Amino acid sequence: MNILAIETSCDDTAAAVVTDGRIVRSSVVSSQVELHAPYGGVVPEVAGRAHLDLITPVVERALADARMTGADLDAVAATVGPGLIGSLLVGVSAAKAYSLAWRLPFVGVNHLEGHLHAAFLEDPDLALPAVVLLVSGGHTLLIHMDAAGSYRLLGQTIDDAAGEAFDKVARFLGLGYPGGPAIDTLATEGDPHAVEFPRGLAGEGYDFSFSGLKTSVINYVRKHPDTPVADVVASFQEAVVDVAVDKTRRAASDLGAASICIGGGVAANTALRQRISEAAAADGRRAFLPSRAMCTDNAAMVGATAWYRLRRDGPTPLGVSADPNLKLDFSPSRAGGTGQPTIR
Ligand code: KG4
Ligand code: ZN
Repeated sequence: MNILAIETSCDDTAAAVVTDGRIVRSSVVSSQVELHAPYGGVVPEVAGRAHLDLITPVVERALADARMTGADLDAVAATVGPGLIGSLLVGVSAAKAYSLAWRLPFVGVNHLEGHLHAAFLEDPDLALPAVVLLVSGGHTLLIHMDAAGSYRLLGQTIDDAAGEAFDKVARFLGLGYPGGPAIDTLATEGDPHAVEFPRGLAGEGYDFSFSGLKTSVINYVRKHPDTPVADVVASFQEAVVDVAVDKTRRAASDLGAASICIGGGVAANTALRQRISEAAAADGRRAFLPSRAMCTDNAAMVGATAWYRLRRDGPTPLGVSADPNLKLDFSPSRAGGTGQPTIR
């Protein structure tokens, strides 16, 4: 089964063709980073307009790379949420239009479930149950996954998302946008123990808090302007990684998880990847770290999720629209038979 998948939840216009939820025939990601960089963050209005310009060429490229046309496809999928409403609407409307024109089923996909499925795309034998740390610009979630489609939310951020903290600290320090990759690179030249920044909610349950850390970095730099920026960012990153790894490791041990998995844009972070691998090895668990391209937003993960959802729940009615606040459904049993459990 060949699925054309579209992802436009934030500032990347992406399309992919995925066969049977596992084989990626093509995956095209057109980044808008340069458009938003002058503003130091994603401007929703600019993102929506750019998606409109890019959606058709990106889909055409994904089909050409896969050497396919509409006639070779079995379904068309798109991310329906969560995300920026103007951005989501472009992808959802395009996918519905293709599905009508080619008389194919439409499948609405939850972006967060997409990030969870990214791991399976690269490691079909991922041992379950797994504890998954999902850390992106918009989300920080710790999830217990015992089967595909069966998730339980263990904890989440009570304020800023991890990527948001990276982006805000980088913006304050004038390191440009997006902040995560800039801090990742600069941190390699700094001392992670130069400044002891606070570890929000350390040791307390599975929830996260990064807002206090961000404020603490800003206050520290104002008071100590001569501290090398590399030391500041390395120490900031160390604080984020410390809590992320501690909580993930504790959850895996409390729940007897077979593997630990990470996803979302921040899962591309070099220090986080290294520390998660070391923690898993020390505890005798498998760590699965999707490739950097699969950690950040892409449409292949949407195609993989759509295949699973289509087989399990059938097509999504065309009346279902984009939902910027869509939550990951953590009690799939409630969803049985509704046709589209991830959409409430
Ligand atoms: O998953 P993603 O591509 O988009 C969202 O759904 O948010 O994540 C983007 C976020 C941004 O905040 C970016 O700064 C962060 O992921 N990020 C990183 C790295 N690469 C991207 N954060 C830390 N280290 C990185 N190497
Ligand atoms: Zn994402």
